[in-house]
Amino acid sequence: MRKGVPDGLRRIITIAGCKGGVGKSVIACAIAMEVGRSGENVILVDADLGGPNLHTYLGVQSPAYVMSDFLSRRTKRIDEIVVPTEYPGVRFISSAGNVPGQANPKFAQKAKIINSIYSLNADCIILDIGAGSSYDVMDFFSMTDAGILVTTAEPASIINSYGFVKNVLYRRFCLEFRAYPVVMDLLKRGMNPDGDAGISAINEIMGELASLSPQCWLKAKSVLSSFRPNIIVNMTTSESEARLGQKLKTIIGKYLSVDATCLGHVFEDPAVRASAKKLVPFMVAEPDCKAAACVRKIVERLLYPAQDVPESEPLTAEVVQD
Ligand SMILES: Nc1ncnc2c1ncn2[C@@H]1O[C@H](COP(=O)(O)OP(=O)(O)O)[C@@H](O)[C@H]1O
Ligand SMILES: [Mg+2]
Repeated sequence: MRKGVPDGLRRIITIAGCKGGVGKSVIACAIAMEVGRSGENVILVDADLGGPNLHTYLGVQSPAYVMSDFLSRRTKRIDEIVVPTEYPGVRFISSAGNVPGQANPKFAQKAKIINSIYSLNADCIILDIGAGSSYDVMDFFSMTDAGILVTTAEPASIINSYGFVKNVLYRRFCLEFRAYPVVMDLLKRGMNPDGDAGISAINEIMGELASLSPQCWLKAKSVLSSFRPNIIVNMTTSESEARLGQKLKTIIGKYLSVDATCLGHVFEDPAVRASAKKLVPFMVAEPDCKAAACVRKIVERLLYPAQDVPESEPLTAEVVQD
């Protein structure tokens, strides 16, 4: 943990996704409910400044202060914008009513949010950071203890999720090697998302790097081993879809040499939408629904400690409805 971080703060979790509508906010809210219920003191933060909607899932309407008050210095300290919720152990920072212009926060604002979040007093902070591969999303994702990528089983969503992990890795490499033009050139040729990729797998880049500079090769190795993204496949409708997270993990390992963790999947479940309409988290309104059972498994893996779904784990009949 960083200097100045309260002893109690054990983990910061970010929830990202390659596009809107994949269930980032629903899952952020559900994980917060379950972690709070397990006895931890949680702060759920709506950091999706472009499309904040966590407040609707929590049923919290207009708090006196929201994120924009902190960013515009109307409030000085981030703890002044934390509001209680009616759910055990869970407090909330809302971005409701976010003013235009803050959808793309400047670097300084982003740094302000990240730094001040570390000063919050909680066991666990969960950030809903929104969609896409903008720098702020990628930085939030990779600067915290656990970055969770939510995808659906649709091929486009899986492909974009792979692209997200690749982009975050590319950014981490660029930050590490910006003072090394020769390495930057190699990275650009090999993985620049905008360029025509000359090299397809990271281990090819690592091979070239090893002969170019053993010192940089070592640095790159440590960038690779410190990046441990987590995957959740949401709105699954069959056993084969439920297993897609494992497949994505395998592809990420093969082509990007990144060891991702598959935390599991959440079934498409009408109880989720029905609860959202009532403005009550489904973990509370429908604790026995199949989506809630999936989230409880995910939280178990996340807390004690993050572990992959075993390849051979049977998806039980009462949970899987093909
Ligand atoms: N597992 C699920 N089963 C059914 N509906 C879901 C599920 N997850 C999310 N949804 C619904 O999908 C929609 C988008 O979810 P949301 O969390 O707002 O997406 P995002 O934050 O990624 O934009 C909402 O209507 C939500 O109720
Ligand atoms: Mg959202």
